[in-house]
Amino acid sequence: MKLISTILLALTVLFLSNQMPIKIWEPDSSVAEVLMALSDSVPAHYRKYTPMDIKRGEEIVKLGRTIAPNGKRSSYVSKYYACTSCHNIEQEDPDLRFSDPETRLPYVKAKGIPFLQGSTFKGIVNRESWYNDDYVKKYGDTLVLKAHRDLKQSIQLCAIQCSQGRLMEDWELEAVLAYYWSLEFTLKDLGMSEADLIRLNQEIADSKSHPELIQWIKSFYMQRSPAHFFDAPYSKKEGYEGLEGDLAKGKDLYELSCLYCHKSGGVSHYILDESRLSFRHLSKMIEKDSHFSLYQIIAYGTYAIPGHRPYMPHYPLERMSKQQVEDLRSYIEHKANQ
Ligand code: HEC
Ligand code: HEC
Repeated sequence: MKLISTILLALTVLFLSNQMPIKIWEPDSSVAEVLMALSDSVPAHYRKYTPMDIKRGEEIVKLGRTIAPNGKRSSYVSKYYACTSCHNIEQEDPDLRFSDPETRLPYVKAKGIPFLQGSTFKGIVNRESWYNDDYVKKYGDTLVLKAHRDLKQSIQLCAIQCSQGRLMEDWELEAVLAYYWSLEFTLKDLGMSEADLIRLNQEIADSKSHPELIQWIKSFYMQRSPAHFFDAPYSKKEGYEGLEGDLAKGKDLYELSCLYCHKSGGVSHYILDESRLSFRHLSKMIEKDSHFSLYQIIAYGTYAIPGHRPYMPHYPLERMSKQQVEDLRSYIEHKANQ
């Protein structure tokens, strides 16, 4: 820290003596602000907001409702869920350059947060597209295409489709965006080392090529959350070819993912717990041609009729790997036979 402060101070003095104003970027600096200062395009969802907006947005995301600007309590966005039923708000990948469910599992476990189908809201304002890959390919209607290119539209799409709720009003949308901005990445979140920070400040000071610097900053994190869908295995009896389940990982998946929604008091009416009954039922259904089969429920979820009832979103490969499905299977079969 001493080294960095000395160098930064030296830089400041140098530039002050040249009569040039210069901003020093620090670990807590906003990544979006650094990029904009380097003349990267300003995101369409960029906002100025107040602490009140953030508070309202946080309540909508976590509780589904808040106090509206007119002083009245707003109605729930969804009868069934809060946004945090399916999305975390913390960083959930140890390395922001990869979306890997296998490294995510121990990472979220250590943090005490769940392992879910929706991507985290941490850094969502730093993404440049949403509902990517197979969401566009498989549901490529105008609604999804609009959401793919615009964070505001993504929020609306998820409010109606994923949460089986209603369109948000403008002030609600702005509040959620404000809350999202409070979860933006700072340089520290990107895992920049002191040397990286010095390099950043130095090169900005030297007016090195901005496109290169922008690209370099963006190499620290993904600008989109990838999503590829997968199918149940050809033979449910055999499972996914060549993969051996791991009991301990299966236990973590069961507890951090399935039980999060299926424990008593969770969002689903279908209750699962640690009893032999739960494991026996799940285990008996694995090889069946039924949405109660692990292979089908994970890859396809349940069918959603907008506004009608809670449904289960499926897991793209980036949210649960085939290996993890086998891990879960081996844990469930083990517990069923105990
Ligand atoms: C029942 C589960 C569920 C609920 C509830 C839910 N979402 Fe989602 N959401 C998803 C899934 C699944 C996706 C697609 C995968 C992903 O996150 O990229 C998604 C995607 C999104 C995206 C795009 C993310 C990206 O990077 O592609 C946004 C924005 C979003 N949801 C906002 C919300 C908001 C705001 C709420 C609350 C009003 C909400 N969601 C409630 C399941 C849910
Ligand atoms: C984000 C919440 C969520 C997560 C996580 C989740 N589920 Fe579900 N699941 C649901 C909802 C909602 C339904 C719809 C059934 C209902 O509640 O009426 C459902 C339905 C099911 C069904 C069919 C039950 C029926 O009555 O049709 C099975 C089986 C199931 N889930 C198993 C699992 C397993 C196994 C996991 C872990 C890999 C899991 N679920 C993770 C929310 C979730």
